[in-house]
Amino acid sequence: MADAGSLVIKGGQVVDATGERTADVVVVDGRITAVGTGLSADRTLDATGCIVAPGLVDIHSHLREPGKEEAETVETGARGAALGGYTAILAMPNTTPAIDSAAVVQQVLELGRPAPCDVFSSGAITVGRGGEQLAPMAEMAALGVRIFTDDGAGVQDNGLMRRAMEYASGLGVTLAQHCEDDALCGGGHMHEGEWSARLGIPGQPAEAEELMVMRDIALARLTGCRIHFQHLSTAGSVAMVRAAIASGLPVTAEATPHHFTLTHAECQGYDPVFKVNPPLRTAADVDAVKGALADGTIGIIATDHAPHAPETKELPFDQAPPGMLGLETALALALTELDLPVQQVLAALSWNPAAAIGVGDLHGLPVEAGNPANLCVIDPEATWTVRGSAMASRSTNTPFEGRELRGKVRHTVLHGEPVVVAGEPQR
Ligand code: DOR
Repeated sequence: MADAGSLVIKGGQVVDATGERTADVVVVDGRITAVGTGLSADRTLDATGCIVAPGLVDIHSHLREPGKEEAETVETGARGAALGGYTAILAMPNTTPAIDSAAVVQQVLELGRPAPCDVFSSGAITVGRGGEQLAPMAEMAALGVRIFTDDGAGVQDNGLMRRAMEYASGLGVTLAQHCEDDALCGGGHMHEGEWSARLGIPGQPAEAEELMVMRDIALARLTGCRIHFQHLSTAGSVAMVRAAIASGLPVTAEATPHHFTLTHAECQGYDPVFKVNPPLRTAADVDAVKGALADGTIGIIATDHAPHAPETKELPFDQAPPGMLGLETALALALTELDLPVQQVLAALSWNPAAAIGVGDLHGLPVEAGNPANLCVIDPEATWTVRGSAMASRSTNTPFEGRELRGKVRHTVLHGEPVVVAGEPQR
Protein backbone atom coordinates (compact mmCIF):
# COMPACT_ATOMS: atom_id res chain seq x y z
CA MET A 1 0.00 0.00 0.00
CA ALA A 2 1.26 3.43 -0.91
CA ASP A 3 1.61 6.01 1.89
CA ALA A 4 -0.77 8.99 1.89
CA GLY A 5 0.83 11.87 -0.03
CA SER A 6 3.56 9.69 -1.46
CA LEU A 7 5.09 10.40 -4.83
CA VAL A 8 6.88 8.10 -7.24
CA ILE A 9 9.23 9.21 -10.00
CA LYS A 10 8.76 6.31 -12.35
CA GLY A 11 10.71 4.66 -15.11
CA GLY A 12 13.85 6.78 -15.16
CA GLN A 13 17.58 6.15 -15.13
CA VAL A 14 19.02 7.34 -11.82
CA VAL A 15 22.40 9.07 -12.16
CA ASP A 16 24.22 10.32 -9.07
CA ALA A 17 27.68 10.35 -7.53
CA THR A 18 27.47 6.61 -6.86
CA GLY A 19 26.70 5.59 -10.44
CA GLU A 20 23.78 4.72 -12.65
CA ARG A 21 20.80 2.36 -12.39
CA THR A 22 17.26 2.01 -13.71
CA ALA A 23 14.92 2.65 -10.79
CA ASP A 24 11.71 4.20 -9.54
CA VAL A 25 12.12 6.68 -6.68
CA VAL A 26 9.51 7.00 -3.95
CA VAL A 27 9.31 10.19 -1.91
CA VAL A 28 7.35 10.74 1.30
CA ASP A 29 7.43 13.81 3.56
CA GLY A 30 10.36 15.42 1.78
CA ARG A 31 12.60 12.35 1.83
CA ILE A 32 13.39 9.50 -0.48
CA THR A 33 11.94 6.37 1.09
CA ALA A 34 12.57 3.74 -1.56
CA VAL A 35 14.58 3.26 -4.74
CA GLY A 36 13.85 0.15 -6.79
CA THR A 37 11.74 -1.33 -9.53
CA GLY A 38 7.97 -1.73 -9.73
CA LEU A 39 7.28 0.88 -7.04
CA SER A 40 4.03 2.83 -6.76
CA ALA A 41 2.65 5.74 -4.77
CA ASP A 42 -0.30 8.16 -4.60
CA ARG A 43 1.10 10.46 -7.26
CA THR A 44 3.30 9.61 -10.22
CA LEU A 45 5.80 11.68 -12.14
CA ASP A 46 6.66 10.02 -15.42
CA ALA A 47 10.40 9.73 -16.00
CA THR A 48 10.35 7.40 -19.00
CA GLY A 49 13.43 8.02 -21.13
CA CYS A 50 14.74 10.46 -18.52
CA ILE A 51 17.62 10.85 -16.14
CA VAL A 52 16.67 11.17 -12.48
CA ALA A 53 19.41 13.15 -10.74
CA PRO A 54 20.09 15.13 -7.59
CA GLY A 55 18.85 18.70 -8.10
CA LEU A 56 21.33 21.11 -9.63
CA VAL A 57 23.09 23.72 -7.50
CA ASP A 58 24.14 27.12 -8.86
CA ILE A 59 26.77 28.88 -6.79
CA HIS A 60 26.67 32.08 -8.86
CA SER A 61 23.24 33.71 -9.30
CA HIS A 62 22.59 37.44 -9.45
CA LEU A 63 19.04 37.81 -8.16
CA ARG A 64 19.01 41.64 -8.10
CA GLU A 65 16.90 41.92 -4.99
CA PRO A 66 17.13 44.20 -3.06
CA GLY A 67 17.53 47.15 -5.37
CA LYS A 68 17.02 46.16 -9.00
CA GLU A 69 13.70 44.38 -8.95
CA GLU A 70 12.94 45.60 -12.48
CA ALA A 71 15.63 43.16 -13.71
CA GLU A 72 14.91 40.17 -11.42
CA THR A 73 13.54 39.25 -8.02
CA VAL A 74 14.49 36.40 -5.76
CA GLU A 75 11.19 34.80 -6.71
CA THR A 76 11.56 35.12 -10.50
CA GLY A 77 15.20 34.08 -10.37
CA ALA A 78 14.31 31.04 -8.29
CA ARG A 79 11.47 30.12 -10.65
CA GLY A 80 13.87 30.21 -13.60
CA ALA A 81 16.30 28.12 -11.55
CA ALA A 82 13.65 25.48 -10.82
CA LEU A 83 12.79 25.36 -14.54
CA GLY A 84 16.49 24.86 -15.21
CA GLY A 85 16.65 21.88 -12.84
CA TYR A 86 18.12 23.70 -9.85
CA THR A 87 17.03 22.99 -6.31
CA ALA A 88 19.52 25.41 -4.75
CA ILE A 89 21.09 28.69 -5.78
CA LEU A 90 23.57 31.03 -4.12
CA ALA A 91 22.70 34.73 -4.35
CA MET A 92 25.57 37.05 -5.25
CA PRO A 93 26.09 40.12 -3.07
CA ASN A 94 26.14 42.93 -5.65
CA THR A 95 22.67 44.12 -4.78
CA THR A 96 21.67 47.58 -3.56
CA PRO A 97 22.44 47.66 -0.72
CA ALA A 98 25.16 45.03 -1.04
CA ILE A 99 24.81 41.82 0.98
CA ASP A 100 27.47 42.93 3.44
CA SER A 101 25.68 42.60 6.79
CA ALA A 102 23.56 40.17 8.75
CA ALA A 103 20.49 42.34 8.07
CA VAL A 104 20.72 42.03 4.29
CA VAL A 105 21.58 38.32 4.49
CA GLN A 106 18.41 37.87 6.58
CA GLN A 107 16.39 39.81 4.03
CA VAL A 108 17.57 37.66 1.11
CA LEU A 109 17.00 34.42 3.06
CA GLU A 110 13.48 35.59 3.97
CA LEU A 111 12.70 36.46 0.35
CA GLY A 112 13.90 33.00 -0.62
CA ARG A 113 11.81 31.11 1.89
CA PRO A 114 8.67 30.66 -0.31
CA ALA A 115 10.69 30.29 -3.53
CA PRO A 116 10.53 27.13 -5.67
CA CYS A 117 14.23 26.51 -5.05
CA ASP A 118 16.40 26.84 -1.93
CA VAL A 119 18.02 30.27 -1.88
CA PHE A 120 21.31 30.61 -0.01
CA SER A 121 23.18 33.85 0.41
CA SER A 122 26.79 34.75 -0.14
CA GLY A 123 28.25 37.70 1.73
CA ALA A 124 30.52 40.49 0.57
CA ILE A 125 34.18 40.43 1.58
CA THR A 126 34.31 44.21 1.94
CA VAL A 127 31.84 46.84 3.10
CA GLY A 128 29.63 47.86 0.19
CA ARG A 129 31.93 45.74 -2.03
CA GLY A 130 34.05 48.89 -1.94
CA GLY A 131 37.35 47.07 -1.51
CA GLU A 132 38.49 49.20 1.41
CA GLN A 133 37.25 47.74 4.66
CA LEU A 134 36.46 44.16 5.64
CA ALA A 135 32.74 43.40 5.99
CA PRO A 136 31.50 41.78 9.22
CA MET A 137 32.01 38.25 7.94
CA ALA A 138 31.54 36.61 11.35
CA GLU A 139 28.00 37.94 11.79
CA MET A 140 27.10 36.73 8.30
CA ALA A 141 28.80 33.36 8.88
CA ALA A 142 26.68 33.01 12.04
CA LEU A 143 23.62 33.05 9.73
CA GLY A 144 25.08 30.23 7.65
CA VAL A 145 26.94 32.19 4.97
CA ARG A 146 29.78 29.98 3.75
CA ILE A 147 30.97 31.88 0.66
CA PHE A 148 32.25 35.43 0.69
CA THR A 149 32.90 37.38 -2.48
CA ASP A 150 32.81 40.91 -3.83
CA ASP A 151 31.63 39.45 -7.14
CA GLY A 152 31.17 41.96 -9.89
CA ALA A 153 34.57 43.18 -8.74
CA GLY A 154 37.73 41.58 -7.43
CA VAL A 155 39.41 42.64 -4.18
CA GLN A 156 42.20 44.82 -5.53
CA ASP A 157 44.24 45.51 -2.39
CA ASN A 158 46.78 42.73 -1.74
CA GLY A 159 47.05 43.45 1.97
CA LEU A 160 43.29 43.56 2.47
CA MET A 161 42.90 40.29 0.57
CA ARG A 162 45.52 38.68 2.79
CA ARG A 163 43.64 39.83 5.90
CA ALA A 164 40.33 38.63 4.45
CA MET A 165 41.87 35.20 3.85
CA GLU A 166 43.27 34.99 7.37
CA TYR A 167 39.91 35.98 8.79
CA ALA A 168 38.06 33.53 6.52
CA SER A 169 40.37 30.67 7.56
CA GLY A 170 39.50 31.31 11.18
CA LEU A 171 35.80 31.25 10.36
CA GLY A 172 36.11 28.11 8.24
CA VAL A 173 34.52 29.81 5.24
CA THR A 174 35.61 30.09 1.62
CA LEU A 175 36.53 33.23 -0.26
CA ALA A 176 35.42 33.35 -3.89
CA GLN A 177 37.18 35.75 -6.20
CA HIS A 178 36.03 37.59 -9.29
CA CYS A 179 39.49 37.87 -10.82
CA GLU A 180 39.96 41.18 -12.57
CA ASP A 181 42.68 43.71 -12.00
CA ASP A 182 40.89 47.06 -12.27
CA ALA A 183 43.98 48.95 -13.35
CA LEU A 184 44.38 46.68 -16.37
CA CYS A 185 40.65 46.37 -17.15
CA GLY A 186 39.71 49.99 -16.68
CA GLY A 187 37.76 51.32 -19.65
CA GLY A 188 37.66 47.93 -21.38
CA HIS A 189 34.38 46.45 -22.57
CA MET A 190 35.42 43.18 -24.18
CA HIS A 191 38.43 40.88 -24.45
CA GLU A 192 41.53 42.71 -25.66
CA GLY A 193 42.63 41.05 -28.88
CA GLU A 194 41.89 40.68 -32.54
CA TRP A 195 38.18 41.55 -32.29
CA SER A 196 38.51 44.51 -29.95
CA ALA A 197 41.08 45.93 -32.38
CA ARG A 198 38.84 45.38 -35.40
CA LEU A 199 35.74 46.77 -33.68
CA GLY A 200 37.47 49.73 -32.06
CA ILE A 201 36.16 48.74 -28.63
CA PRO A 202 38.64 49.13 -25.75
CA GLY A 203 39.59 45.72 -24.38
CA GLN A 204 40.49 43.95 -21.16
CA PRO A 205 43.57 41.73 -21.48
CA ALA A 206 43.58 38.12 -20.32
CA GLU A 207 46.39 39.17 -17.98
CA ALA A 208 43.91 41.26 -15.95
CA GLU A 209 42.32 38.00 -14.82
CA GLU A 210 45.53 36.02 -14.65
CA LEU A 211 47.37 38.47 -12.37
CA MET A 212 44.67 38.12 -9.73
CA VAL A 213 44.55 34.34 -10.06
CA MET A 214 48.33 34.31 -9.59
CA ARG A 215 48.14 36.60 -6.55
CA ASP A 216 45.39 34.64 -4.86
CA ILE A 217 47.17 31.34 -5.38
CA ALA A 218 50.18 32.93 -3.68
CA LEU A 219 47.96 34.19 -0.85
CA ALA A 220 46.33 30.75 -0.46
CA ARG A 221 49.84 29.39 0.04
CA LEU A 222 50.63 32.12 2.57
CA THR A 223 47.42 31.89 4.59
CA GLY A 224 46.15 28.34 4.03
CA CYS A 225 42.75 29.83 3.20
CA ARG A 226 40.47 28.07 0.72
CA ILE A 227 40.05 30.14 -2.41
CA HIS A 228 37.46 29.58 -5.10
CA PHE A 229 37.95 31.17 -8.52
CA GLN A 230 34.76 32.37 -10.15
CA HIS A 231 34.02 32.22 -13.88
CA LEU A 232 37.56 31.36 -15.07
CA SER A 233 37.94 32.40 -18.68
CA THR A 234 41.55 32.20 -19.87
CA ALA A 235 43.97 29.42 -20.76
CA GLY A 236 46.58 31.03 -18.51
CA SER A 237 44.23 31.02 -15.48
CA VAL A 238 43.36 27.40 -16.09
CA ALA A 239 47.04 26.40 -16.24
CA MET A 240 47.79 28.17 -12.96
CA VAL A 241 44.84 26.60 -11.18
CA ARG A 242 45.84 23.16 -12.47
CA ALA A 243 49.35 23.63 -11.08
CA ALA A 244 48.04 24.99 -7.77
CA ILE A 245 45.77 21.99 -7.27
CA ALA A 246 48.63 19.63 -8.17
CA SER A 247 50.77 21.27 -5.50
CA GLY A 248 48.09 20.58 -2.89
CA LEU A 249 46.70 24.08 -2.39
CA PRO A 250 43.04 24.43 -1.31
CA VAL A 251 41.89 25.88 -4.64
CA THR A 252 38.64 25.27 -6.55
CA ALA A 253 37.25 26.85 -9.70
CA GLU A 254 34.10 27.28 -11.73
CA ALA A 255 33.38 27.93 -15.40
CA THR A 256 30.25 29.42 -16.95
CA PRO A 257 28.41 27.98 -19.94
CA HIS A 258 29.09 31.15 -21.93
CA HIS A 259 32.83 30.81 -21.40
CA PHE A 260 32.84 27.25 -22.70
CA THR A 261 30.62 27.99 -25.71
CA LEU A 262 31.14 31.54 -27.02
CA THR A 263 34.15 33.56 -28.20
CA HIS A 264 34.89 37.27 -28.55
CA ALA A 265 33.93 37.03 -32.22
CA GLU A 266 30.29 37.15 -31.03
CA CYS A 267 30.82 40.86 -30.28
CA GLN A 268 31.25 41.69 -33.97
CA GLY A 269 27.66 42.94 -34.30
CA TYR A 270 28.19 45.34 -31.37
CA ASP A 271 25.27 43.63 -29.59
CA PRO A 272 25.63 44.21 -25.83
CA VAL A 273 23.91 40.89 -25.13
CA PHE A 274 27.44 39.49 -25.63
CA LYS A 275 29.00 41.89 -23.14
CA VAL A 276 30.02 40.14 -19.93
CA ASN A 277 32.71 40.21 -17.27
CA PRO A 278 35.06 38.47 -17.56
CA PRO A 279 34.64 38.92 -21.30
CA LEU A 280 34.17 36.26 -23.95
CA ARG A 281 37.68 35.20 -24.96
CA THR A 282 39.44 33.40 -27.80
CA ALA A 283 38.73 29.95 -29.21
CA ALA A 284 41.95 28.73 -27.53
CA ASP A 285 40.64 29.97 -24.17
CA VAL A 286 37.31 28.21 -24.75
CA ASP A 287 39.21 24.99 -25.50
CA ALA A 288 41.29 25.41 -22.34
CA VAL A 289 38.17 25.88 -20.21
CA LYS A 290 36.61 22.78 -21.76
CA GLY A 291 39.82 20.85 -21.16
CA ALA A 292 39.80 21.94 -17.52
CA LEU A 293 36.19 20.77 -17.11
CA ALA A 294 37.17 17.45 -18.68
CA ASP A 295 40.20 16.80 -16.45
CA GLY A 296 38.54 18.13 -13.28
CA THR A 297 40.72 21.22 -12.85
CA ILE A 298 37.44 23.10 -13.02
CA GLY A 299 34.97 20.99 -11.07
CA ILE A 300 31.99 23.31 -11.13
CA ILE A 301 29.75 24.81 -13.78
CA ALA A 302 28.19 28.03 -12.45
CA THR A 303 25.81 30.24 -14.37
CA ASP A 304 26.77 33.82 -13.45
CA HIS A 305 23.07 34.40 -14.18
CA ALA A 306 23.08 38.19 -14.62
CA PRO A 307 19.72 39.63 -15.63
CA HIS A 308 19.61 43.19 -16.91
CA ALA A 309 16.46 45.12 -17.75
CA PRO A 310 15.94 45.39 -21.55
CA GLU A 311 16.38 49.17 -21.69
CA THR A 312 19.88 48.85 -20.20
CA LYS A 313 20.96 46.11 -22.60
CA GLU A 314 19.72 48.23 -25.52
CA LEU A 315 22.32 50.91 -24.78
CA PRO A 316 25.44 51.12 -26.97
CA PHE A 317 28.04 48.41 -26.26
CA ASP A 318 30.29 50.68 -24.20
CA GLN A 319 27.40 51.90 -22.02
CA ALA A 320 25.46 48.67 -21.50
CA PRO A 321 26.04 46.68 -18.31
CA PRO A 322 27.89 43.34 -18.53
CA GLY A 323 26.04 40.09 -17.90
CA MET A 324 23.92 37.30 -19.38
CA LEU A 325 21.06 35.07 -18.29
CA GLY A 326 22.08 31.54 -17.40
CA LEU A 327 19.80 29.56 -15.11
CA GLU A 328 17.41 28.21 -17.74
CA THR A 329 20.07 27.24 -20.29
CA ALA A 330 23.08 25.97 -18.31
CA LEU A 331 22.16 22.28 -18.18
CA ALA A 332 21.22 22.06 -21.86
CA LEU A 333 24.38 23.92 -22.91
CA ALA A 334 26.50 21.54 -20.86
CA LEU A 335 24.75 18.48 -22.31
CA THR A 336 24.86 19.86 -25.86
CA GLU A 337 28.32 21.40 -25.96
CA LEU A 338 30.51 19.35 -23.62
CA ASP A 339 31.70 16.00 -24.82
CA LEU A 340 31.60 14.52 -21.32
CA PRO A 341 29.83 11.60 -19.66
CA VAL A 342 26.47 12.65 -18.19
CA GLN A 343 27.65 11.76 -14.69
CA GLN A 344 30.59 14.17 -15.01
CA VAL A 345 28.30 16.94 -16.25
CA LEU A 346 25.99 16.36 -13.29
CA ALA A 347 28.93 16.33 -10.88
CA ALA A 348 29.85 19.81 -12.11
CA LEU A 349 26.26 21.03 -11.88
CA SER A 350 25.10 19.34 -8.69
CA TRP A 351 27.21 17.58 -6.09
CA ASN A 352 30.48 19.45 -6.59
CA PRO A 353 28.85 22.89 -6.25
CA ALA A 354 26.71 21.64 -3.33
CA ALA A 355 29.89 20.68 -1.48
CA ALA A 356 31.63 23.95 -2.41
CA ILE A 357 28.98 26.07 -0.69
CA GLY A 358 28.49 23.76 2.26
CA VAL A 359 24.97 22.53 1.43
CA GLY A 360 25.97 18.95 0.66
CA ASP A 361 23.79 17.69 3.53
CA LEU A 362 20.66 18.81 1.62
CA HIS A 363 21.55 18.95 -2.06
CA GLY A 364 23.54 16.87 -4.52
CA LEU A 365 23.18 13.75 -2.38
CA PRO A 366 22.92 10.25 -3.85
CA VAL A 367 19.39 9.20 -4.80
CA GLU A 368 19.04 6.77 -1.89
CA ALA A 369 16.44 6.04 0.76
CA GLY A 370 16.79 8.42 3.70
CA ASN A 371 18.17 11.35 1.73
CA PRO A 372 16.29 14.63 1.20
CA ALA A 373 14.24 14.58 -2.00
CA ASN A 374 15.81 17.44 -3.95
CA LEU A 375 15.78 16.04 -7.45
CA CYS A 376 15.54 16.87 -11.12
CA VAL A 377 14.29 14.76 -13.99
CA ILE A 378 15.97 15.47 -17.31
CA ASP A 379 15.00 14.34 -20.79
CA PRO A 380 18.47 14.14 -22.36
CA GLU A 381 17.21 13.80 -25.93
CA ALA A 382 14.53 16.52 -25.96
CA THR A 383 15.49 19.45 -28.17
CA TRP A 384 14.22 22.98 -27.73
CA THR A 385 14.91 26.48 -28.97
CA VAL A 386 16.08 29.19 -26.60
CA ARG A 387 13.74 32.19 -26.36
CA GLY A 388 14.51 34.94 -23.86
CA SER A 389 10.90 36.08 -23.90
CA ALA A 390 9.73 32.62 -22.80
CA MET A 391 11.93 32.55 -19.70
CA ALA A 392 10.75 33.02 -16.12
CA SER A 393 13.32 35.79 -15.66
CA ARG A 394 12.16 39.40 -15.65
CA SER A 395 14.92 40.01 -18.19
CA THR A 396 15.55 38.53 -21.61
CA ASN A 397 19.30 38.99 -22.10
CA THR A 398 20.27 35.52 -23.25
CA PRO A 399 23.15 35.34 -25.73
CA PHE A 400 21.74 32.00 -26.94
CA GLU A 401 18.53 33.38 -28.46
CA GLY A 402 17.30 31.08 -31.23
CA ARG A 403 19.85 28.36 -30.51
CA GLU A 404 18.63 24.78 -30.59
CA LEU A 405 19.75 22.83 -27.52
CA ARG A 406 19.49 19.20 -26.45
CA GLY A 407 18.43 18.24 -22.94
CA LYS A 408 15.38 19.58 -21.13
CA VAL A 409 14.22 19.54 -17.55
CA ARG A 410 10.95 17.63 -17.26
CA HIS A 411 10.35 17.79 -13.49
CA THR A 412 12.01 19.38 -10.47
CA VAL A 413 11.26 18.21 -6.94
CA LEU A 414 12.11 20.40 -3.96
CA HIS A 415 11.91 18.95 -0.45
CA GLY A 416 9.66 16.23 -1.83
CA GLU A 417 7.24 18.53 -3.65
CA PRO A 418 7.11 18.89 -7.44
CA VAL A 419 7.86 22.53 -8.27
CA VAL A 420 8.16 21.88 -12.02
CA VAL A 421 6.02 19.22 -13.72
CA ALA A 422 6.31 18.44 -17.43
CA GLY A 423 8.32 21.64 -17.87
CA GLU A 424 5.68 23.83 -16.20
CA PRO A 425 6.21 25.74 -12.94
CA GLN A 426 3.85 24.64 -10.16
CA ARG A 427 4.33 27.77 -8.05
O1 DOR B 1 29.07 40.20 -16.47
C1 DOR B 1 28.91 40.21 -15.28
N1 DOR B 1 27.76 40.64 -14.74
N2 DOR B 1 29.90 39.84 -14.48
C2 DOR B 1 29.83 40.00 -13.15
O2 DOR B 1 30.74 39.61 -12.47
C3 DOR B 1 28.68 40.68 -12.54
C4 DOR B 1 27.50 40.48 -13.36
C5 DOR B 1 26.34 41.36 -12.96
O3 DOR B 1 26.07 41.49 -11.77
O4 DOR B 1 25.65 41.87 -13.84
